[in-house]
Amino acid sequence: METISDIRMMQRRSMQAHRTGQRIAFVPTMGYLHEGHASLLREGRKRGDLLVLSIFVNPTQFGVGEDLDTYPRNFARDTEIAAAAGVDIIFAPEAKAIYPVDFATFVEVEGLTDTLCGKSRPGHFRGVTTVVCKLFNIVRPDIALFGRKDFQQLAVIRRMTEDLNLPVEIVGMPIVREPDGLAMSSRNVYLAVDERRQALALIDAIGAARGMVEKGERQATPVIEAVRRRIEREPAARIDYVQICDAATLADLATITSEAVLLLAVRVGATRLIDNAFLLQGR
Ligand code: PAJ
Repeated sequence: METISDIRMMQRRSMQAHRTGQRIAFVPTMGYLHEGHASLLREGRKRGDLLVLSIFVNPTQFGVGEDLDTYPRNFARDTEIAAAAGVDIIFAPEAKAIYPVDFATFVEVEGLTDTLCGKSRPGHFRGVTTVVCKLFNIVRPDIALFGRKDFQQLAVIRRMTEDLNLPVEIVGMPIVREPDGLAMSSRNVYLAVDERRQALALIDAIGAARGMVEKGERQATPVIEAVRRRIEREPAARIDYVQICDAATLADLATITSEAVLLLAVRVGATRLIDNAFLLQGR
């Protein structure tokens, strides 16, 4: 396994791989890897000849007052997880190389970014799409893997890739959870013991919502209300949003169809957690 921090060197390695007919699979991350990231890497290993992992805590996707400075980092452990998953190259650039002082170009997806996390984190997706577009131009992957944990992010990246005719196949991967159901996230380390317990309200509420739909409920409003009530039972929980949206357009749905996804963002103490699930079984 090789670690590359230089942008030109990474580009040269990718072009060399393409010349020899290798297929490049790519998993972009902000590091502090967990089993969710590892599942993406293992799938990438199966689908590509050269597997590239990027680790870059992207400053442009953090808002003022967010956790850029405290975002967890552990490069030594990340290296071990990457090696075990069969990564060939870790691309870990420095912020000043990705964003030199005269940097002035941003990629923005309209519409899809106006709702959900886009509302509560203005500018966040502009930072995500800008860095992912740059990383695609540096790593030149044939295929890139993203988790459905960040459901809106995946939709936004698919839109960007199609709209800009980027020659990359985007693959969405299932949410990996802790044994008790909490969706894995690098930010889970922020949770105090009591908050960690209260965070289970998210998966509990998702279960309750699916139960209602299973019993025949097809109206979104009562399901959303039940989810909100379950989460509001936790003293440290503050709801950012609870919405039922169409999986492709992210538009709010009044009626629950096979395309209906329940999306939640909840602050537990100071930690913002997101989760989502299709509401009809079989999805
Ligand atoms: P990060 O939060 O490190 O996540 C990297 C990738 O891992 C994303 O595609 C994310 O959806 C996926 N992932 C995280 N937790 C997961 C889980 N529990 N199950 C399955 N997949 C999971 O998302 C980002 O970084 C950044 O925004 C990035 C795309 C790298 C751009 O900076």
